[in-house]
Amino acid sequence: MKKDNLILITGGTGCISSHTVYKFINNGYKVRIMDNLLAHEGRWPSYINKKAQKVIGDVTNIKDWERSLENVSVVIHLAGTMDFHLEFSRFFQINTVGTVNLYEAVVKNKLNIEKVVIASSQFVYGFGRWRCQKHGILYPKEAPEKLKKENIGSSMLNM
Ligand SMILES: NC(=O)c1ccc[n+]([C@@H]2O[C@H](COP(=O)([O-])OP(=O)(O)OC[C@H]3O[C@@H](n4cnc5c(N)ncnc54)[C@H](O)[C@@H]3O)[C@@H](O)[C@H]2O)c1
Repeated sequence: MKKDNLILITGGTGCISSHTVYKFINNGYKVRIMDNLLAHEGRWPSYINKKAQKVIGDVTNIKDWERSLENVSVVIHLAGTMDFHLEFSRFFQINTVGTVNLYEAVVKNKLNIEKVVIASSQFVYGFGRWRCQKHGILYPKEAPEKLKKENIGSSMLNM
């Protein structure tokens, strides 16, 4: 990935995304973030990297995707709603339709996006006891430790 490429990181104020923004900017990349700021009363939190370009937008709105994708080469899509809750339709709208909207905006506008990185589900850590193909039987508390060793942040930088 070239350093003059513009990277869009969605959900830029979130736990994973805000650290990802720092990681890329500190390694010399140009970053734009897109977040709906609903969790922050409409304001950018102070911990956001000052060098990041900022777009207030919602992944459920295709026009917001189109504004955010202007001149972008790489998308790291980390906006989403998490945890197990009963608002299934809201969950589906943000996580599934929100992601589909990215591809619709790209195809509709014939955008030249080189790479898209999508967040996995937190349920890769399991829900109760589960069997991981690589690590065998796991419980949620021990899974993050094992998966951490695979150093996801660094592997993104090596894309
Ligand atoms: N934290 C984990 O342990 C974990 C594990 C595996 C996968 N994931 C996935 O990684 C992604 C990020 O997780 P996180 O822990 O950083 O979550 P987070 O809740 O800290 O961050 C999510 C971000 O998305 C933004 N957002 C929510 N809805 C939005 C919308 N409609 N439009 C624009 N922005 C919106 C929020 O404002 C927030 O900044 C999620 O998809 C999550 O499922 C997280």
